Amino acid sequence: MRTVDLITKKRDGGELTEAEIRYLIQGYTDGSIPDYQMSALAMAIFFRGMTPEERASLTMAMVDSGETIDLGGIAGVKVDKHSTGGVGDTTTLVLAPLVASVGVPVAKMSGRGLGHTGGTIDKLESIPGFHVEIGSDEFIELVNRNGLAVIGQSDRLTPADKKLYGLRDVTGTVNSIPLIASSIMSKKIASGADAIVLDVKTGDGAFMKEMSEAEELAACMVDIGSRVGRKTVAVLSDMSQPLGNAIGNALEVKEAIDTLRGRGPADLTELCLTLGSHMAVLAGVATDREEARVMLERAIESGEALEKFKAFLTAQGGDASVVDEPERLPAAKRLIEVPARESGYVAAIAAERMGLAAMLLGAGRATKESRIDLAVGIVLRKKIGDPVQAGEPLATVHANEIGAEEAIARIYEAITVRPEPVRPPALVVGEVH
Ligand code: URA
Ligand code: CA
Repeated sequence: MRTVDLITKKRDGGELTEAEIRYLIQGYTDGSIPDYQMSALAMAIFFRGMTPEERASLTMAMVDSGETIDLGGIAGVKVDKHSTGGVGDTTTLVLAPLVASVGVPVAKMSGRGLGHTGGTIDKLESIPGFHVEIGSDEFIELVNRNGLAVIGQSDRLTPADKKLYGLRDVTGTVNSIPLIASSIMSKKIASGADAIVLDVKTGDGAFMKEMSEAEELAACMVDIGSRVGRKTVAVLSDMSQPLGNAIGNALEVKEAIDTLRGRGPADLTELCLTLGSHMAVLAGVATDREEARVMLERAIESGEALEKFKAFLTAQGGDASVVDEPERLPAAKRLIEVPARESGYVAAIAAERMGLAAMLLGAGRATKESRIDLAVGIVLRKKIGDPVQAGEPLATVHANEIGAEEAIARIYEAITVRPEPVRPPALVVGEVH
């Protein structure tokens, strides 16, 4: 096989075979195919797209480019959840203990990553003592014992995806639906998932700003899953405003605790119940979504979900007393109210700009090396559709040394207040099975 012939074939709209895709991915991973050829191929895929067979082959070739996690030592169906990113998305922190408390085994690999706030691991590390540096045997053992454990992402999984994603980032080829779909699915499969629940965000704060693109991405990932034997379900959810009220690491931990207690924001609670119901059905602990939802609601009411969270924190070195005494979490020095300048109804809370505001306070990482401030962030006091009087707080800024003035300016840019009533957006806007 000659790489140039395969690039030409794709450029001219041909279909690559599984063997050809494996040759390309193996060669790129071992360095025998250079970046310039792979960038030409990525660009050809960007313009020509990929057939369903090609997407499935690409996904599995990337899975096989590195190590895979064997969760065979854990009893039950391992269902993983993936969210395509958003602003202030606290769902993993809530969902993991919630579904574990009804018997879904949760063996979660999580990362730090770049973004407006830290990744799930950063958020959890705002709990004194909590750590994810556990060996794989201990990880499996903890899931079997407690139903739930979180381990740091191994950098030996899907090396082809890592290399290709970096290349796409600098060659204008990130925004290709087949490349995004196979990238996401390869990572979930390599981390040992038997079944996958996807939360595909759409709207201002999302990767896929248009509903039609989000639907196409969701359908693409569900199709890959079914072709490679991993039952996959996708929920399309609104990111035209931040999810929940808190944007920031320790602030989101507190929000997750409130939600597990049954006192969380309505939208975050609803999304967790929706995603959790799909997880429970795929894991086989409930026969249908209605039954699953009742089980999850009961686990919140009875306190079992919260107890599961405490047991999980303790097992990984964390001080579980923060659950009952959230004032022990890292707290910012200054709390600044951001008052409404006029009366009316909240019409928009541009999620991306709110994320940027949190970033200016130090809640996120701009580069891999930056340190994040776990205490800082923003708590929304109003959501879209809420009435507001001039002078009433729209948000509270939790700030330390940096960024308060700039963050407040961004918050005013993000939030629109209109005189006429506004209907709040629907949260779950679609599903793909
Ligand atoms: N997220 C991923 O993991 N991969 C992509 O290609 C895009 C977003
Ligand atoms: Ca939130």
